[in-house]
Amino acid sequence: MSEPQAAASITEIGKARARVDGPLKVTGTARYATDHNFPGMLYAVPIGSTIAKGKVNAIDTSRARQMPGVRAILKRGDLAPIKRITPSLGDSLMVDEPRPPFNDDVVRYYGQYVALAVADTFEEAKAAADTVAVSYSAETPNVDPHLVAETTKVMSERGNAASGYAAAPVTIDAHYAISPETHNPIETHATVAVWDGDTLTLYETSQGVINHRNVLADMLGLPRDKVRVIAKFIGSGFGSKLWPWSQSPLAAAAAIKLGRPIKLVLSRPMMFHAVGHRPRIEQRIRLGAGNDGRLMSLQQDYVNATSMLDDYEENCGEATPHMYSVPNLRVTSGLAKRNIGTPTAMRGPGAVPGLFATESAMDELAVKLGMDPVQLRLVNEPRLDEGLGVPFSSRHLKECLTLGAEKFGWSKRTPQVASMKRDGMTVGWGMAACSWIAARFDCSASIELRDDGTVRVASASQDIGTGTYTVMAQMAAETLGIAIERVEVVIGDSSLPTGALSGGSMLTASLVAPINAAVAAAGKALIALAVAGQNTPFSGANANELQFSRGCIAARNGDPHTMTFDEVLRALNTRAVSGQGSGEGSFGVEERPKLSSHSFGAHFVEVTWQPDIARLRVSRVVSVFDAGRILNSMTARNQIEGAIVMGIGMALFEGTEYDAASGAPVNANFADYVVATNADVPALDVHFIEYPDLNLNALGARGVGEIGLAGTAAALTNAVYHAIGVRIRELPLKIESLL
Ligand code: MOS
Repeated sequence: MSEPQAAASITEIGKARARVDGPLKVTGTARYATDHNFPGMLYAVPIGSTIAKGKVNAIDTSRARQMPGVRAILKRGDLAPIKRITPSLGDSLMVDEPRPPFNDDVVRYYGQYVALAVADTFEEAKAAADTVAVSYSAETPNVDPHLVAETTKVMSERGNAASGYAAAPVTIDAHYAISPETHNPIETHATVAVWDGDTLTLYETSQGVINHRNVLADMLGLPRDKVRVIAKFIGSGFGSKLWPWSQSPLAAAAAIKLGRPIKLVLSRPMMFHAVGHRPRIEQRIRLGAGNDGRLMSLQQDYVNATSMLDDYEENCGEATPHMYSVPNLRVTSGLAKRNIGTPTAMRGPGAVPGLFATESAMDELAVKLGMDPVQLRLVNEPRLDEGLGVPFSSRHLKECLTLGAEKFGWSKRTPQVASMKRDGMTVGWGMAACSWIAARFDCSASIELRDDGTVRVASASQDIGTGTYTVMAQMAAETLGIAIERVEVVIGDSSLPTGALSGGSMLTASLVAPINAAVAAAGKALIALAVAGQNTPFSGANANELQFSRGCIAARNGDPHTMTFDEVLRALNTRAVSGQGSGEGSFGVEERPKLSSHSFGAHFVEVTWQPDIARLRVSRVVSVFDAGRILNSMTARNQIEGAIVMGIGMALFEGTEYDAASGAPVNANFADYVVATNADVPALDVHFIEYPDLNLNALGARGVGEIGLAGTAAALTNAVYHAIGVRIRELPLKIESLL
């Protein structure tokens, strides 16, 4: 029996908590998909097409089949047909490339799987794969980077953009482009498939174990309860692991066919062929403004490349309708098909490339107006989301801009190009604003309260390296008023209560309600036990007069007797009590939601330029975000920093290049596809202004996985303009264009 106590003083929310799974990772005991090995396991290596357009004529496996350790060379017709699925986000049935592997002999992109070598060891499978002789009828592929929309649709429109533009005294009309970017998580895609004759277990690299289970069950024609997807640790994904790719059904079908566990791991080059990318995008931005800087018209017309198989749309206008106040607006989207693998969501899909264009154009407008670019954003601050015609749930972009300007020292900026010098270098200062959607997915969780004072919180969600284990532990600890060390988090397993995707920066916001509801349900169950049982002061009481709060049962009438859940369980001689809860999604639920829910931010970037040696460096970044309440200041900052590093890579280095003759990505390795490294990145100064968005969840937390990338590239290239006077309208920037 506890003495009457003040409300528990533990406050986990907001703390800078190191990852609870950190020790497992640094000691090498965290088990990723490929760390799973089974007796009798075979290794599979896919054979990718070496043409990008045409037909497979014949696959000669005779030599390969004779090689040591080879168990099978599987090709079209050798596996039970894999079914085509109609992708559906609402049904958690999303797939990037709906064409099932080995479905036909038509080749539509370089690297498309045409066969699978299976052997006792990886080396034997690889050697066999290299020996399989495939003959093709090849045609010239279309990988032309210049995009002309084959189909176009209007995404958002208000007023009359053309007449608003015609009437504006100051206009900008500019074209922007980004090169295809390939996701490059350190962990390549992999599947370990185990079939026991009844149940298929997949150890996966997946950002959504439930979606992955549903897709694989349907593709293979198995009941969903006979498929289990496990992804306990993931070496990141950036969107490339949101939906299953063909390696997964191939490995699973091979495991079923051969009756042996199969391990299939993609090589780094295969990552550039067959598991998505952010496509090439071209955009035309037209802005019209008054001499006071107020926008009169905004037009954004974008085209993205997609594959022959799919109509992947990069929603570049995601942030455009709500970013600024403008009476006349028109956003159109177009597609152009190419002989390239299907693109997919890559960190901040849509908004990131969209904001590169619109925030660059805003900078161009500021220059033309002779107006400070921060001021230009401030005068165009909207009072409501003019796209949806509804208020914002919580919008504090103005504070991001003003606080960022203050922290950066923006008032010392002289606007003339090349007017700022330091240590013999030219200094450029640029800025950009940004936005990213805030929403929830449907999500469930369970909690078990135990008599030793520990708890287990579980959900079929996953931690892709973002800190989900840690924030879930914090949420449970906070709700129960216990130390975080007493919380065990169990995720990454489709057999747990149906959780949400690690996608769209929405998982954290999605988990708040289900965890709180699960705790409340467990508390209710505990009260029922206490009322019915002996040995507690609550025995025989009316359950309605008791409450469960901060992990304790107490009387509602102020009776000072309270007991912690573990005290109650021990008194009742009961080991554990559990509860389950769920929360409803908000994403895509209503055509016109009552509130517009987004995060906002502002980046301020300093570059230095040494023309004599053509050296451009990013020397300073200050970024401020309005992302609701921050649950963990360390993991949140880490997410933002990683995203800014990616933004520096997007601006300066990243671009997948396709060979015009073969259609192959020619820089499909880390030597030639350059990403930003420590040497390219200065210390990053990240700030959060914390306005809890209580419309989104009880903690007021939004997500922080993607917003940090939005706007970064534009802030950088705007700084380049300020330093050198060269306007970068195509990414990545080429150093020779600065000379
Ligand atoms: Mo993110 S592109 O939703 O993984």
